[in-house]
Amino acid sequence: MKLLHGGDYFPEQWQTQPETIKEDFAYFKQANINTVTVGMFAWSILEPEEDHFNFAWLDQVFDLAEENGIKVILGTPSGARPNWLASKYPDVLRVNSRLERNLFGGRHNHCFTSVNYRERVRIVNEKLAERYGQRESLLMWHLSNEYSGECHCEQCQSAFRHWMQEKYGTLDAVNQAYWNTFWSHTYTDWQQIHSPTEVGEMAVHALNLDWRRFVTDQTIDFYLHEKAALQRYSDDVLVTTNFMADTEHLIPFQALDYSKFSQVVDVVTWDCYPAWHNDWESEANLALKVGFINDLYRSLKEQPFLIMESSPSFVNWHDVNRPKRPGMHQLASMQLLAHGSDSVLYFQMRASKGSSEKFHGSVIGHVPPERNRVYQEVATLGQRMAELDGLVGSMKQSEVAIYYDWENDWALQDIQGFSKTGMHYHRTLHDHYRPFWQQDVNVDVITKNNAFEGYKLLIMPMVYLHSEDLLEKIQTFVKSGGTVVYTYLSGMANETDLVYEGGTLAGLQDLLGVIINETDVYYPSQTNQLLLGDATYQVHDYAIVFERTSAEAMAYYGSDFYQGEAAVSVNHYGDGQAYYIGARTGDDFLATFYTDLLEQLNISSNSSTKTSQDVSVQTREAIDGTVYYFAMNFSNQLQSVELSPNLVDVSTGQEVETSLDLQAFEVKVLISKT
Ligand code: GAL
Repeated sequence: MKLLHGGDYFPEQWQTQPETIKEDFAYFKQANINTVTVGMFAWSILEPEEDHFNFAWLDQVFDLAEENGIKVILGTPSGARPNWLASKYPDVLRVNSRLERNLFGGRHNHCFTSVNYRERVRIVNEKLAERYGQRESLLMWHLSNEYSGECHCEQCQSAFRHWMQEKYGTLDAVNQAYWNTFWSHTYTDWQQIHSPTEVGEMAVHALNLDWRRFVTDQTIDFYLHEKAALQRYSDDVLVTTNFMADTEHLIPFQALDYSKFSQVVDVVTWDCYPAWHNDWESEANLALKVGFINDLYRSLKEQPFLIMESSPSFVNWHDVNRPKRPGMHQLASMQLLAHGSDSVLYFQMRASKGSSEKFHGSVIGHVPPERNRVYQEVATLGQRMAELDGLVGSMKQSEVAIYYDWENDWALQDIQGFSKTGMHYHRTLHDHYRPFWQQDVNVDVITKNNAFEGYKLLIMPMVYLHSEDLLEKIQTFVKSGGTVVYTYLSGMANETDLVYEGGTLAGLQDLLGVIINETDVYYPSQTNQLLLGDATYQVHDYAIVFERTSAEAMAYYGSDFYQGEAAVSVNHYGDGQAYYIGARTGDDFLATFYTDLLEQLNISSNSSTKTSQDVSVQTREAIDGTVYYFAMNFSNQLQSVELSPNLVDVSTGQEVETSLDLQAFEVKVLISKT
């Protein structure tokens, strides 16, 4: 098994220049490319007219790939439909939330419910499977492209009503779950149920949540429909689709609940486009966010994932599309491997000549490979990846987990109250992740679908939407010796965003040994203090006023009407312990707090000492016990780090001293046997 290196390739754009395609494959070989992903946007050439198919060009791609020992990931074309299809079947086009039907154009502009769209997709997918489903070089099916978006057409409304009926059974149950007597929003007929829209209903939080759940379910249903069309001819090939991140902030993609979607893909794959060398944060801080999101996507299926797209250098849709500086491509790509990817795949293999993505980074650009630094760096990475085949299938061993939940994220975005500008759920997640990243402790970022057993420490930041089922899982985890840390704004609402009687889920208060009385918030210039021993830390944005029932106080508020009351507490529960951090602090307090916990719980780190926290050391462990250490320097200066003795540098085959030097932006990969 090999790590996959390659990516999205669009030979359909070069049909008038067949020699270009041949040349490309020669360049691919030289750069250690072993995989191409094709077909995602090729519907108009695959089926130029309804029921007239043209496969000659794709046959040639498969032939060339096979001649060159390259594997093919085959895309289905539903991500962008041809003009003739939209003209003949207008209902395939999406209707926006103002209830206007879009014109033909762009991509990802289709209704997932449309009977006509589903039927045309079924036909083309079946044809593809029939022709290529048994090709030796076919590695995997890549369904559509970055499923996303929603449609508000009549077919979707009726599917939504049906979904609601299945979920609630009666209108009374809906009205109760939605608290619909508020503002007289009571439904008296199923037909009154409509998707949230700015020209109608947006204020019923449970409706907003259910609509997002429905969109996830409908997207999954469409994915399964696409998959079913392949099965007749190709049921033994892996099937996946490419997930995304919210590109602006490099946080989990917001529109779909991937904890659910991941259950139907054979392997999680995603498209990773960090804005390296930006002017608002250090490379190390950005690397931390990249680490976090990869730790989440790996944990979705608790197995290695694939990077389906990344840029060999720059993108075309950031405000400033800065090329990766020399060496950064290796470091950034190795970081993806370090966090559990079995691939570095790119968008795109060759830059297009026209239209909107012509200035997007690519392996083969407008400047020929011989004088193209990006191509050279890709080739160097390809060589290094070829040394790491033993990594394939290896996993990370983590004793620490941080909890993330899409539904909670949606509910927090909808909250009307407290400090909205100070909400910062994702920043808080990163703040709680930082001490571990900086101390080279592996972390899993888990969701409600993961098993909690096996972790020593589980961190639950801002779990506002908190079900009774989740509570039960946590109780079991803590009773049997686990340590949990909760923060402010936790356990306030149930799955339909109804506030728990008493303000906070009773069982959670019992677990934490506290009673939560009040949520205080601060304007940006206002602060409080958190007093821990002799140290004083700043509190901002959020401070919870609570009483202790069985918990012990660890830190106290320094001022305001709750001066002297507990700000942080710990409760012994079963064989474990439950911490409550009532206030938002800076990194200083969190570093102290988690450093103590790491020591107390005897949680191991991948390094002993290092000259800078901008160095990250992550490990993966192969089935044969080999541990891969990725020592990564995200600073622009020479750094050194101390690792375990007797490690061997994979590139040189030399045993290394315990203290390892890393040049600016350098990455070294070392192995040991346990
Ligand atoms: C992805 C998309 C690709 C390409 C890329 C550019 O989101 O899947 O097709 O557009 O962005 O960065």
